[in-house]
Parts: sequence; C-alpha cells; structure tokens
Amino acid sequence: MNWLKKLFWYCLLIEGFIIVNGSKKFPGTFKIGVGTSAYQVEGGWNADGKGESWWDYALNTQCNTADCGNGNVAGDNYHKYKEDIAIMKDLNAGFYRFSISWSRILPTGFANETNQAGIDYYLDLLKTLKENNIDAAVTLYHWDLPQNLAQYGGWLNEQTAEWFGEYARVAFELFGDYVKYWLTINEPHVFCLGGYGSYHGMGFMCPGETDENATKIYQCSKVALLAHATAYHIYDTEFRAKQGGKVTLVTDSSWYEPISNDTKDLEAWDRELQFQLGWFAHPVYLGNWPQVMIERIAERSKGEGFAQSRLPELSQEEIDFINGTFDFFALNTYSSTLIGWADDSPISQPSYDLDTNVYATSDPSWTFAEVGYVVSWPLGIRKLVKWINDQYNPGEIFITENGWTSGDYLNDTDRITYQTSYLENVLDAVLIDNVPVTHYTVWSLIDTFEWGSGYTVKFGMVQIDFESDNKTRTYKDSANWFKKVATERCVGC
Ligand code: BGC
Repeated sequence: MNWLKKLFWYCLLIEGFIIVNGSKKFPGTFKIGVGTSAYQVEGGWNADGKGESWWDYALNTQCNTADCGNGNVAGDNYHKYKEDIAIMKDLNAGFYRFSISWSRILPTGFANETNQAGIDYYLDLLKTLKENNIDAAVTLYHWDLPQNLAQYGGWLNEQTAEWFGEYARVAFELFGDYVKYWLTINEPHVFCLGGYGSYHGMGFMCPGETDENATKIYQCSKVALLAHATAYHIYDTEFRAKQGGKVTLVTDSSWYEPISNDTKDLEAWDRELQFQLGWFAHPVYLGNWPQVMIERIAERSKGEGFAQSRLPELSQEEIDFINGTFDFFALNTYSSTLIGWADDSPISQPSYDLDTNVYATSDPSWTFAEVGYVVSWPLGIRKLVKWINDQYNPGEIFITENGWTSGDYLNDTDRITYQTSYLENVLDAVLIDNVPVTHYTVWSLIDTFEWGSGYTVKFGMVQIDFESDNKTRTYKDSANWFKKVATERCVGC
C-alpha cells in the first residue's frame, strides 16, 4: 500500500469511527437522544396539587404570546408520558432530556412542603425510562420559577440561590438513583436577558421586567451562577458517592463567525463570544467573569455616572465557589451569526447591546427557517464545539439542544436536512478535531409550547394535534429519519 492509501485508511478508521461514502458511523459510546421541558410539554398546570409557576401566572392573567397560547395543557405529557416513552423506545432514543417542574414537587417553591402526586409522576416517568433502557438527563430549572418565589424578587434575590439548592437536594434525594446526568439551570443567558432586560428574539419571557439601567440582567446572572454552584456542591458532597451521576449548567450560544480576519473584526468576534457564552461559562470553567466584560462594563458604567460597575463584582470566595462546578459541558445551539467591528458610540443609555457593541449580520448563503428564527450554517456547530473545547477543556461535551423551527407539516424535509448536516458536523468535530462530544440531543421530541411564539412555530419530530382532545401524536418524516439514524448508528447511510 502506498503512503497515500495508508493515510486514506487511517483517516477512515480513527477511534473506531468509519466514514462510508460520505455517511458517518457513530463512535462506540456516542448517543443521540431527544429533549423537552416541563412547561413546554407537560400541561396539568394545576393538576393534583401542583403550585403555580410564574409562567402559569403570567399566561393565565394576560396574553403575552404570539397566539395568546399558554402551557396549561400543551402536549399533555403529564398524562401521556407513557405514550411518549413508547415513542422514544420505538425511535431508539438513547436518552431523554426533560425538566422537573419545581412547583409540581414543591408547590410554594420552599422545601418544607412537598406534593406527593408530583413526586410520583416523576418517579414513574424515571422508572419507565429505566425499564425501557433510556437514560435520563434531567434539568432542574427550565425557566418555570414557582410564582410564590417571584414575590421575593426571583432571580434578583440571592436567597433564590439557597432555595434552589434546597429544591435540588430534594430532587437528588428522591430521583438521583435514576439520573445519570443532572442539568441544574437551562440557559441563564436567555432568561436573564429575556426576563429582566426585555431582550431576546423569543418575545415575552418571565417575569417580563425591563432594565433601563442594564443592571438587573447582570444581577440575575450572578444569582443564577450561585444557584447552580450551590446545587453542584450539594450533589458533590451529599450524593455523588452513592449516586455517581454528573452535574453541570446548561449554556447556550450561536456560533459567531468573524466577518473578516481584520484585527478589529477578530476583537469584536471574540468579545461577542465572551459576552454570550463566556458570561456564564468563564465563571464555571475558568473562574470569574471574562476579563473583557469586567473591563468594558466597568468603564462604561463609570462614564454613565454609576459609582460601581453594573456587572456585580464576584468576591474571591464567590469566584472559588463557582469555579470548577462542572462534570461536563452542556451546550444548546441552533444558529450562526457573522460578527464584525462597530465603533463605540458616545456613552449614553446603559445597555447590554452597547456593552457588547459589535456589528452582527448574516451571510445570505445561509439557510433561514421559513417559520421561526433558526439560521442554518452547519459548519457553525463544529467550530463552536471546537472553540469550547479549546477554551474550557471540559473533558466531555453534551449537546443538550439542537433543532429546527418549522410550520405545522409532516413532510419536514427541511428539518431532516438541518439535523443531518448538524449531526454530521458534530461527528466531524469528534473524528477530525478530536472534540469529546458524547451526546447529541434533537430538540424536540414532540411539538411544544414555544414560549413567546406560543404554538406558532414547531420544533417537534412528532406532531401534536393541539386541537384534538387526545392531543394526538403523529410521526413527522424527521421521526422516521431519527429512528433510522439511531438504529443504524450512522448518519447519511
Ligand atoms: C430553550 C427551549 C426552546 C428552544 C427553541 C432554547 O433556548 O431552552 O426551551 O424551546 O430554545 O427556541
């Protein structure tokens, strides 16, 4: 065999991973699974002793979504979880990422009062997953704060971090024997900006506050990080030895591609990544806020007349408490954006956008979802996981969400095209770039209540007929695609 042929075969066979005619086989331990979250699929919003969350409260008192929809019934997974697990089994999903509704097990949010019916629901769900050989990846907080805690200031109050820790302890105690992966908090970046800064493409987000001083968003981020770290330490000291699970925070980011190799564009590009992803990842994986955030926000705050930076300083004790609170990296990612330099305007109104200050646009050759907001550039996910691995060296990366928005139809070839190309790029990252991605989650298993968009955009591989009493489930073409990929352990075969 000449050297060229040898190199060719070597490239095909690295780590037991084979590329056949453009198709890609999964490496030995690689798993694909599906995801949902409590408020988006459960329904049963006040069933059997469940307390109200702030989403229940907000959407039962006002129309805050594109179609005035709410999660009162959604896909009725609270009553139909066995049917959904049967679907996952049929699709050959390796794991299920779902979230616990805090107020379903602790109706007031406090740990002094539990709701047995809610506990039984999650216990049975977890046992049924186990019987079906589907791993559980469980999120403790996917945006549904108990309404009772909202009155104390929600994510602006540092005591929320302690109450979250107490809730986490209850969940670890009750469910930990069944859970391999714990995800403490989902995308604090999105709910801090969206909930306290009226900012995010997804429309209304609880608690729907504005932030003229661009201060609440940063306070929220500090409390969320303290809450995450509190739960992590509780697991570490009280449960890890007997339960052996892994715990981390769920961070989200698009891929940001520099618009050119010009030094200023590259500086803006790096700043964007630090403000989006580094904001939460840097404190957990490296310690403290990213330096560029510390410096820019302090400088702008001074110019705006504040006595202190709008970004709260973390004490050395807090830095140490948060630093290292991960067992793997959990990433939600959907889209890509082009980033270039923008000159700073004279200091005026405090704002997160001006704190970051970059020029953001899209490449016209990228694919834009016809309904909803996903912008597909498949190479973006490969670059993003490589960037994360280079920056944070987390040992293991779990893609906890990746999915495509569409209208309501069953022949969703657009979704199949997106998921195929994104999964292929994840596998390229594993094989070619040596990035340790071990899990890939398609968001979502079934159509969901999509926050500010209500029911106007769909993410599911399984359609829900929301008009029917039975909330009838029907496979879209993407569900059959998933089944084939998961069964053959190969994409594009
Ligand atoms: C959230 C999901 C949401 C998805 C699509 C993520 O930010 O975690 O709850 O459905 O994006 O918008």
